[in-house]
Amino acid sequence: MNALGKILKSRIDNEGPLSLHDYMQIALTHPEYGYYSAQDPFGKTGDFITAPEISQMFGELIGLWAVDVWAKLGAPKKFNLVELGPGNGTLMADALHSAKLAPEFIDAMQLHLVETSTRLKTKQAEKLKKFDAHWHDEMPDLRDAALILIANEFFDALPIHQYMYKSGDWYERLVSCKDNRFDYALSSKPTPVNAEVELVKDGDIFETCPEADNLVGKISNILARAGGAALIIDYGAMTGQIGDSFQAMRRHGFSDPLTAPGEADLTAHVKFGHFVKIAKTANIRIDGPTTQGRFLERLGIEARCHLLVRNASKAQRRKLMADLRRLTSAEEMGTLFKTLALSHNMLAPPEGFGN
Ligand SMILES: C[S@@+](CC[C@H](N)C(=O)[O-])C[C@H]1O[C@@H](n2cnc3c(N)ncnc32)[C@H](O)[C@@H]1O
Repeated sequence: MNALGKILKSRIDNEGPLSLHDYMQIALTHPEYGYYSAQDPFGKTGDFITAPEISQMFGELIGLWAVDVWAKLGAPKKFNLVELGPGNGTLMADALHSAKLAPEFIDAMQLHLVETSTRLKTKQAEKLKKFDAHWHDEMPDLRDAALILIANEFFDALPIHQYMYKSGDWYERLVSCKDNRFDYALSSKPTPVNAEVELVKDGDIFETCPEADNLVGKISNILARAGGAALIIDYGAMTGQIGDSFQAMRRHGFSDPLTAPGEADLTAHVKFGHFVKIAKTANIRIDGPTTQGRFLERLGIEARCHLLVRNASKAQRRKLMADLRRLTSAEEMGTLFKTLALSHNMLAPPEGFGN
């Protein structure tokens, strides 16, 4: 058992089984041994690769999307540009590279990065050293200026609760420990769950993510008051919360989420339909969810790719075309990943959603 496993086991021995939520949270964000604190997750040598790490085209187009929102806001002299979970800082570096086409945008932005991992904050600081960035452990309540917010593969890293249906009730899924091995267990008492589905059968799993719900509510309220737009990109279904989407990725393959905690990336699918319901209560504009492939195509990824291809070597050209396919095709990231925009209801529709 690894060091984090021993910490989790001792907690279970003292307090009883942990909720899946607490297990996931500790495994990802424990300050010393948590996955994002201790591992080097991204890229070919890591456990998975995210869209900005695949190609500069992704971040560049998001930078232009942000500049367009800023122009639609009337090119304010000050606005807050926030990224949730910036990873290596690649997305923001590429976004600001293309946003330099509008120098007034760069002059007007107050850059805020929401990140819990000290190791990743250092990487972000290095990548973004030309800019005056402010770091936060959680989403700040920014209401002094309009907000432009980007979150790519952030919400899937927030811890979930799971409930299993059994004989007419929902029981919370827990993590127990026996003979130095973690295993799933169920709460002894049922939990009242508002699953909003009629056809469920024994063994069905219902997932909730309170941190994600609170954050979407907070962002929606800031947008309603201060104006602006938020772009959420992640993988998940358009609707529904039924199904077990808790998974672990290690060395670009699936692994057992309960083995070697802190050594694999743990994620769960984002519940876009639920986000839409929360955002609706704040009376803001909602665009999408649409697929990542369609979103990037509408922003002009093919034109950008062809421009880059013009000055590229043969090998670079092959890579650019493969990256384009990877980001947009239905067989790769194009359909599994979704894009949702939330914005002030007086703002002109954000680009990328076919309005
Ligand atoms: C899967 S990575 C995505 C990285 C980046 N957005 C990209 O596309 O390459 C998740 C990011 O969110 C950060 N993170 C995870 N949970 C967090 C939390 N609760 N609060 C703030 N940041 C968190 C991680 O440290 C990491 O930077």
